[in-house]
Amino acid sequence: MAKVGKRPYVILSACMSIDGKIATITGDSRLSDEQDFMRVHKLRAEVEGIMVGIGTVLADDPKLTVKYIKNPKNPTRIVVDSKAKTPKTALVLTYKPEVPTIIAVTENAPKDKIELLKKAGAHILFCGSDERVDLKTLMEKLYDMGIRNLMLEGGGELNWSMIKSGLVDEIRLTIAPRILGGNKAISLVRGAGFQMIDEAPNLSLIDVKKDGDYVILTYKRI
Ligand SMILES: NC(=O)c1ccc[n+]([C@@H]2O[C@H](COP(=O)([O-])OP(=O)(O)OC[C@H]3O[C@@H](n4cnc5c(N)ncnc54)[C@H](OP(=O)(O)O)[C@@H]3O)[C@@H](O)[C@H]2O)c1
Repeated sequence: MAKVGKRPYVILSACMSIDGKIATITGDSRLSDEQDFMRVHKLRAEVEGIMVGIGTVLADDPKLTVKYIKNPKNPTRIVVDSKAKTPKTALVLTYKPEVPTIIAVTENAPKDKIELLKKAGAHILFCGSDERVDLKTLMEKLYDMGIRNLMLEGGGELNWSMIKSGLVDEIRLTIAPRILGGNKAISLVRGAGFQMIDEAPNLSLIDVKKDGDYVILTYKRI
């Protein structure tokens, strides 16, 4: 993985439907097949960090550890959670507690919640005092902690902010043979969106693979 200055190299990884959704209107996100899970877990074993937004933790309660691989090295888990809303019972804290979990919050996060998360084993990183976690600060702090590459596993809101901030270097996207529809179903990238095509990042298509009815695309930032 290439070096990108004093921040980790970021790979956005997701499985989306043909119509660009990563979950249904009810939040069901089980789009991957077994092969896709194996690809995702192989990548998890290769990176030093794996990052999600609090929306994904609350919707899916993921473990964010590596499966399918013998004696894997688990990456550090990172949850972007401005207000320290991560439940102390969340699997990112209780499952394999020996795997480190960082919760990135703002200076305004409630102190009592932060104390609870610390007691539950989380390492807290304060990133700015705005409404939301300052992602550039977070990337610098992760780099200073020795994390040189990380996998961004969504969801849509965090994907948008990371892309908007120019912090995504590579995208590994699986397209599942499904059409989900729904105005409120979560897209790969949510947020305010770009106004004009010229503002949107232009990517280079590096690889295309077909796996049964699934398509795997790899893009890199130009
Ligand atoms: N198919 C897939 O590959 C896949 C992968 C991952 C997730 N998903 C699905 O995606 C859905 C969750 O996506 P989501 O868009 O609702 O939530 P999300 O992106 O997981 O989390 C968004 C939340 O992160 C917090 N946050 C803190 N700082 C932020 C910043 N600078 N920018 C953006 N967010 C920041 C915000 O909450 P606070 O303001 O409270 O901090 C924000 O609401 C779930 O249904 C999940 O199943 C699917």
